[in-house]
Amino acid sequence: MTADDARLRIAALSAEIERHNRLYHLDAAPVISDREYDALFAELTALELAWPHLASPDSPSRRVGGAPIDGFVQVQHAVRMMSLDNSYSEAEALEFYNRLVRLTGLDSIHTVIEPKIDGVAVSVRYENRSLVLAATRGDGVTGDDITVNARTIRRLPLTLPPDAPPLLELRGEIFMPNAAFRSLNDEREAAGDARFANPRNATAGTLKLLDSRIVARRPLDIIFHGLGAHADLNLSSISEFHALLAHLNLPRADRLWHADSVAGILDAIRELDSARRSLPYETDGAVVKVDRLDLQAQLGTTSKAPRWAIAYKFEPERVTTTLRAITIQVGRTGVLTPVAELDPVFVSGSTVSRATLHNEEEILRKDIRVGDTVIIEKAGEIIPAVVAVIPEKRPPGTHPFDLFQHTNGCCPSCGNPISKSDGFVAWRCLSPVCPAQAATSLKHFAGRKMLDLEGLGDIVADKLVERSLVRTPLDLFHLTLDQLAALNLGSDEEPRVFGPKNAAKLLAALDRAKTLPLSRWIFAIGIPEVGESAARELARLHRNFAELFSSPILTDLAALPKGKRKEDHPTLAPFRIAQEVGQVAARSVLDFAASPSGAAFISALQSQFHIDPQSDNFAPQTPDSAAASLFAGTTWVITGTLSEPRPTFEALIRSLGGKTSSSVSAKTSFLLAGEEAGSKLDKARQLGVTILSEPEFRARLAEAPIANPDTPANPPTQPDLFA
Ligand code: IVH
Repeated sequence: MTADDARLRIAALSAEIERHNRLYHLDAAPVISDREYDALFAELTALELAWPHLASPDSPSRRVGGAPIDGFVQVQHAVRMMSLDNSYSEAEALEFYNRLVRLTGLDSIHTVIEPKIDGVAVSVRYENRSLVLAATRGDGVTGDDITVNARTIRRLPLTLPPDAPPLLELRGEIFMPNAAFRSLNDEREAAGDARFANPRNATAGTLKLLDSRIVARRPLDIIFHGLGAHADLNLSSISEFHALLAHLNLPRADRLWHADSVAGILDAIRELDSARRSLPYETDGAVVKVDRLDLQAQLGTTSKAPRWAIAYKFEPERVTTTLRAITIQVGRTGVLTPVAELDPVFVSGSTVSRATLHNEEEILRKDIRVGDTVIIEKAGEIIPAVVAVIPEKRPPGTHPFDLFQHTNGCCPSCGNPISKSDGFVAWRCLSPVCPAQAATSLKHFAGRKMLDLEGLGDIVADKLVERSLVRTPLDLFHLTLDQLAALNLGSDEEPRVFGPKNAAKLLAALDRAKTLPLSRWIFAIGIPEVGESAARELARLHRNFAELFSSPILTDLAALPKGKRKEDHPTLAPFRIAQEVGQVAARSVLDFAASPSGAAFISALQSQFHIDPQSDNFAPQTPDSAAASLFAGTTWVITGTLSEPRPTFEALIRSLGGKTSSSVSAKTSFLLAGEEAGSKLDKARQLGVTILSEPEFRARLAEAPIANPDTPANPPTQPDLFA
């Protein structure tokens, strides 16, 4: 066989296999036997093995997954992924429809009603008819690149027909069909693995796997329901969008309803509610959408959700069962969460034997006692929750729940004393050596926005704790190259070592971490109530950990009398402290500083490892510093795709004294132009406005006397969606 023969045969086999994939998965009408299919597949993989340079990345053979990856890369969505407003009653649906009529001035509005699929939201991008990206929603602006895992979904075409638009980004849900979910759980049980609580969790858990070969063995599926970025596409309605999906062999909901009145919408919702139980996937409601795209554009969106659509949530099913016991789980920050152990009961598609009870206060409020008959529902049809007890059925001799007594005052994971601070509802284990907290704190510590420890993924973190190499994050700095290289990430029977290359990479990342600014460290150590923004604000107010842990600002803030605002407090007001750092966060930092683990942390950091992170945005009294005036008197327009969301850059420019505007004019001083900049770039050129690329912009920032934490000297390289 010549290379040309091989190329032709590979192309023919690929097309043939994809056709059978469609017939089997999309149309449920296979025309060949499994054996014949397997034979085609075997011929293709053999040819690809013999002619590796002819194997296309779009080959159907790639659906079996590839080598494990270290972690997911974050990608920015070209068009934000929004959420939906919820409604729970017919009255709310009426209100929604009336609002549409009012806002558009029309007599009646054509709407489509679709099942709301209870899966994991995803955005899938095709460029030049090839699948190039699948990403989770994340925070709507950036999500995880899960392309390798999504490619294993048989119903998801890797290429589109020749007449598909050159750019097409689709929004949809990845889910695990109910039947597949049940057999997966049975298999897991037989293998001694924990069962997944419901199909959605199974889907989310599967998509998080770093080894796409395992993902390929799990039967995930996908349904598209929306449109993201696109080019050369002329659609005027959702009905047309569905026709396009059908034309391009893209999976979509089996059925949709049309209505142009409230009565029609409610009829459709009721019909859908009874039909949904026979659908092969979980649904938790109906989505009502305005059909016409021009009306959608006219109605626009709020900050979170479109005004042209609403989710109508179905009443969750409720069942009763007996509460056998209350057990206690320990979370990353040491929070003790009581969990209800129930007589197993089937509700909303799965068997439930445990349910969260949130915290002690919640249990007392609902007066939930061991032995009670309780009412269970799945909050959002996902997480089982105890709604209420049936007091008439209470057996004699029960007692109100008391968490301290229940645990004898000891953490169920490590046996150390538990405590509860004033103003908090949660009991916590503050022990620095609590194993339940160790692995999760380690993962947090290593996160990209924390200390960015490349190579320290979930599996590595779990194994480091399991093999007693690391108990607290700082133990990482004790690790040697040999220890890390020999770390077994597999099982005793099937060892798989971390290896010297990865070990060296991780050690280099740890070295780099020592020089990272204070804000990243504050975030990394995972003080409860202190997120990324709070950490940055704390670093603006303090030079280093020594200042932070004995901070008079935080002491004042923590002691703010009830009803008094920090903005009105004489010593606090001048600091103009951001909202993220309030009384609760202040108390939490001081509690941590005073706790044994806080003291151990600071002493190890400084005396053992000689790490003393410094603030790189220290500017307690904000205005008029040299940095704040770097861009004074300049007006900026931002366009194109940048490595971070646009608001981040806008805030940065404003914090340096510049103004931002959305359109280019003679008054514009600078245009910050990212990838794929369009008309604004042209206009700026015409007007002779100074144009800066992102690297050029970052270079200017480096001139600032006080660097900003948003712009590290070496910004992490971001994946380029448009490369
Ligand atoms: S349309 C602009 N249609 O539910 C957002 N969403 O709770 C438009 N979902 O974010 C979304 N089925 O991930 C739409 N038929 C459907 C859906 C659906 C499930 C998800 C989607 C959305 C979430 C909101």
